[in-house]
Amino acid sequence: MNLPYFDLTGKVAIVTGGATGIGRGIAEGLADVAAEIVITSRNLEKCEGACEEISKRTGVKTLAHRCDVTNKDEIHALVEDVLKEFGHIDILVNNAGIGGSEKPILEMVEEDWNNAIDTNLKGVFTLSQAVAREMRERGKGGKVINVASIGAIVVFPNMSAYCASKGGCVQLTKVMALEWARYNIQVNAILPGYFNTPLNKDFFSTDVGKKIIKQQIPMRRLAQIEEIKGVAILLASEASSFMTGSAIVIDGGHSCW
Ligand code: NAI
Repeated sequence: MNLPYFDLTGKVAIVTGGATGIGRGIAEGLADVAAEIVITSRNLEKCEGACEEISKRTGVKTLAHRCDVTNKDEIHALVEDVLKEFGHIDILVNNAGIGGSEKPILEMVEEDWNNAIDTNLKGVFTLSQAVAREMRERGKGGKVINVASIGAIVVFPNMSAYCASKGGCVQLTKVMALEWARYNIQVNAILPGYFNTPLNKDFFSTDVGKKIIKQQIPMRRLAQIEEIKGVAILLASEASSFMTGSAIVIDGGHSCW
């Protein structure tokens, strides 16, 4: 099958939080269509392991880099390092995120709020700004993909900071899309529902977890990591050349209720 509009040969993609879970799935998907992959998270060893496996399987060039997206200096060091190694950045996937502490608002302390907002919202802002400045300078456009959550559009009790950060992430996506259209930088968001990741596997095996799957997800199952790949490839490639500011839901129908 010849699908040149999905081909990412010669493109360089940064995936934050790309060593595990959804980010790993996205990194694998982009590598499947020949993108060169930079995986970053706070744990360099895990990034190195993921990079090694991806380049062994697909043959693409990879780079592992430690970066905490809440730290501005580390973000700038990441961008510098990628430019030094590859010369340019074409695709940024802001996937790093945390659920944060599950507490009712009346029990929360400032730190609970700041942790989720700093990672899930401010981190997206700071890294996107640094990367988009490089894309503007280079003049060849680019793609930014923000991994939000259906928590941006449906409400999860006791997860106020998470829902606010993800709702903010979707609005930020749209403002970036508007401001950067003139530089041919397309910015879109993916809103995953419940995915089967190491993080929530145990919970969804419990009776409560199984009940949630049955009652809340019309397709009556969790998404598998593989199922994030197609949308990520679409949003990273020429196939989405007229898409910007979109928020694409992948949730087995969860948000239809
Ligand atoms: P995960 O825990 O496997 O992946 C999150 C990654 O982000 C990890 O690699 C972690 O090290 C990294 N990370 C966290 N804080 C960071 C920081 N300050 N700096 C750099 N890296 C950091 O979890 P999962 O489930 O794969 O989540 C990925 C994204 O998908 C998150 O943004 C999450 O909110 C979102 N999401 C996940 C859903 C799910 O069902 N698993 C549902 C909806 C959204």
